Amino acid sequence: MKYYIKTFGCQMNVNDSEKMAGILQTLGYTPTENWEEADVILVNTCSVREKPDQKVLSALGEFKKVKKHNPNAVIGVCGCLAQRAGYEIYQKAPFIDMVFGTTNIHHLPNLLEEAKSGNKAIEILEEIDENENLLDRFPTVRENKYTAFVTVIRGCDKKCTYCIVPTTRGRERSRRIGDILREVQYLVEDGVKEIHLIGQNVTAYGKDFGDVKFWELLKAVAEVDGVERIRFTTGHPKDLDEDTIKVMADLPQVCEALHLPIQAGSDRILQAMDRGYTQKEYLQKIELLKKYIPNIALSTDIIVGFPGETYEDYLETVKVIKEVEYDQVFAFKYSPRPGTPAADLPMTESPEELSKRLNDLINLQKDITFKKNLEYQDKIVEILVEEINQENKLVGRTRTNKLVYAEGSPEYLGKLVDVKIEKVNRFSLEGSIIGGD
Ligand code: 5AD
Ligand code: SF4
Repeated sequence: MKYYIKTFGCQMNVNDSEKMAGILQTLGYTPTENWEEADVILVNTCSVREKPDQKVLSALGEFKKVKKHNPNAVIGVCGCLAQRAGYEIYQKAPFIDMVFGTTNIHHLPNLLEEAKSGNKAIEILEEIDENENLLDRFPTVRENKYTAFVTVIRGCDKKCTYCIVPTTRGRERSRRIGDILREVQYLVEDGVKEIHLIGQNVTAYGKDFGDVKFWELLKAVAEVDGVERIRFTTGHPKDLDEDTIKVMADLPQVCEALHLPIQAGSDRILQAMDRGYTQKEYLQKIELLKKYIPNIALSTDIIVGFPGETYEDYLETVKVIKEVEYDQVFAFKYSPRPGTPAADLPMTESPEELSKRLNDLINLQKDITFKKNLEYQDKIVEILVEEINQENKLVGRTRTNKLVYAEGSPEYLGKLVDVKIEKVNRFSLEGSIIGGD
């Protein structure tokens, strides 16, 4: 019996898919890279913009063909779009056998049993399942042996007016620190060197308990023997405080890289988005980060064309990009999401104008990214060798999250090694290994 999982969306979805793979393997299934030979196909969906929504329906149309030669194959849909519009998807694609939401993934064994006996297994909960943490007990099946995601907080209490996530993922629920540390310990024993703490808003970690701070979690994870690197995503500018930044700077395991979404540069638009900070306040956080961690690599998310965004507002975003000099920018056109506060606001600019703004911004950032990469020429950087590619190059990332291809012996796989950078590309660096642990 084989399974195939198609994952859309963010790291939370990736981690959920790793857990679902763990559940399926516990049930005796083995993975396949070819959906046509799968007995169970799961589509883990994203709902953050309209495009991913559409991609799900076209993927389902393709996967439907599996039933031609394997009528008993089970097709399931889960994740954020399933949580938001599971019944609608089922109406549009009635051949699917299973639909479940974001907080009842641990019910997969029962749902699968039901679907296999020929019934439609549809379970979308309106309230968060109080036993959702049972999911954490299942093993994660990871593609990468040496780095691992660990979910530390689920949901989001922010009310950004464009965002569907509070609807699809619910309110903030932090995991108990002891449970997180046990998972980290297990991962380290399994060979993991780099722990990537994830959540929709990790910097809000512990707020729902009232007595734990995110930086305390960082310190505790750093104390686990064998954790060589720590990353975390996503932080919210409002919740990132100086105490956290100091701890990031002090802990040698915390990598010099941070994704800090700004979304827009104009104060008027930031307010309409209900982001809870002004451009100046955001830039003050960036200044603090650069003060404590001078070589930090920064990245951000930007939404172009929020309703009411004028050309002058857009120029404020451009200004921030030029001033911060991010290593990477993820920019998208605004996409109205049904049910969000901004959904009914009228669009004030033409789609062509918005496409132009987005393109100009992406082109501007391409040059900045290249310029930042050029700073690495002839420098020695530490990488964690994550794989060996088909050309026998070692592939890894710097602490600042730059992709590096290096000449060197395969014995360095899974090790932290020093690489001298000899060539700089737009999206990667190349070099040779000069020593390792
Ligand atoms: N339209 C466009 N982009 C969005 N994002 C979230 N909601 C929307 C939307 N309605 C972007 C934000 C967020 C990232 C994960 O997706 O930039 O940080
Ligand atoms: Fe997409 Fe957001 Fe859901 Fe992640 S949490 S899958 S980005 S809608």
